[in-house]
Amino acid sequence: GTAQIGVTGLAVMGRNLARNFARNGLTVAVHNRTAAKTRALVEEFGEEGRFVPTESAEEFVAALERPRRLVVMVKAGEPTDAVIQEFAPLLEEGDVIIDGGNAHFEDTRRRERELRERGIHFVGAGVSGGEEGALHGPSIMPGGSAESYESLGPLLEKIAAKAPDGTPCVTHVGPDGAGHFVKMVHNGIEYADMQLIAEAYHLLRTVAGYSPAKIAKTFRGWNTGRLDSYLIEITAEVLAHEDAATGKPFVDVVQDRAEQKGTGRWTVQIALDLGVPVSGIAEAVFARSLSGHAELREASGALAGPVPEPLDEKAAEAFAAQVEQALYASKIVSYTQGFHQIRAGSEQYEWGVDLGSVAAIWRAGCIIRAAFLDRIRAAFDAEPDLVSLLSDKRFGEEIGAAQEDWRAVVVAATRQGVPVPGFSAALAYYDALRAERLPAALTQGQRDFFGAHTYRRVDREGSFHTLWGGDRTEVEAG
Ligand code: 6PG
Repeated sequence: GTAQIGVTGLAVMGRNLARNFARNGLTVAVHNRTAAKTRALVEEFGEEGRFVPTESAEEFVAALERPRRLVVMVKAGEPTDAVIQEFAPLLEEGDVIIDGGNAHFEDTRRRERELRERGIHFVGAGVSGGEEGALHGPSIMPGGSAESYESLGPLLEKIAAKAPDGTPCVTHVGPDGAGHFVKMVHNGIEYADMQLIAEAYHLLRTVAGYSPAKIAKTFRGWNTGRLDSYLIEITAEVLAHEDAATGKPFVDVVQDRAEQKGTGRWTVQIALDLGVPVSGIAEAVFARSLSGHAELREASGALAGPVPEPLDEKAAEAFAAQVEQALYASKIVSYTQGFHQIRAGSEQYEWGVDLGSVAAIWRAGCIIRAAFLDRIRAAFDAEPDLVSLLSDKRFGEEIGAAQEDWRAVVVAATRQGVPVPGFSAALAYYDALRAERLPAALTQGQRDFFGAHTYRRVDREGSFHTLWGGDRTEVEAG
């Protein structure tokens, strides 16, 4: 065969990735379970580059040059396993299967192991940026063997988004499931970013008394500063949009129940297993699920509490500036938590993930792309073993400068009865890290009291237990 790459699964993401490869000068074999989609792609976009349309699995595999590189763009879960089972028997040693879906990294680890035994490389690659990204340049997070990246990397670099300094937003993240793990945390951070922006909107709407159009303007202003990011930019677009049918702000005609497909939930589940406090991301997932409990909300509508009283114009303006500080500080915390989780996952699975490169490939193409990621990259590049983003001098100073306004916003929200789970969880995390002593000592005492779970002392090595039911002497535990 002559095709340098193949794409099977031609729904919108697969189709756009195939077009992106072709537009960048590669010969692309294309395949779909139902051949009509393959024909439609070539009919509509055939002039964009060199496509090799194929109908059967055998024909598809035969169209590829060796080592074969096939990108699978089907639904995560069983459909992915089915496609692998269909193609693996047709492949030879050294061939590479790339899964570009939102797979769970544990599935990716299993698939990689099974295919490795047959001499086939399996690369779980996170692909972020939605339909537009797939076509014009996504951020790509490939895992799998370093060897597979040698043949695959140059092709991915052609189609990836380019950071402002021109570097392609793709890197070999680490072996087996590392790529899908990092994509999962990307989505967890995406949930947190979206929740924080939503809280800022809610406060500006209810406490500052701003209209959606005015908030759109405020966000456009923020987008020229340190909050410069894709999500702030599209938020302004959504808020400025008017519903054609009613003439009302679009945001007022949409049901206030947020949905989710699962990657944010996975981030939190895995963080719990790894023992990593991702409280900001967790609150974002819970906020979505709470919003969806219509019956719970209906049953609670009569509960007592304040109704927000909008501020006058001048006070509103000052408040909006404080909300910007709270949003920025909370954002630093969610990235701190997300990067902590990547570091913990990398240690657990021995992936050797370089946090600076992760920040670097998130600078463009992906949903959480933001100017701020270049500074996270710089922080980890300067100190690869940085324990926490908050221990970086510049981020530490910035969040320190924001903290007074951040507190004022959480106080105002609490007083006025506006829920800010993201802002307040982030602030609690910040204060817990600052605290000289945490009440965890008391928790240990309670555990020892009711279950002889033992504790450690501040002044001596070893584990101890107090005979709470007896004369309360302390004994050294085994
Ligand atoms: C991306 C997005 C993408 C998807 C989200 C939506 O990086 O391009 O994250 O993967 O649109 O996962 O997730 P929810 O449906 O769970 O909000």
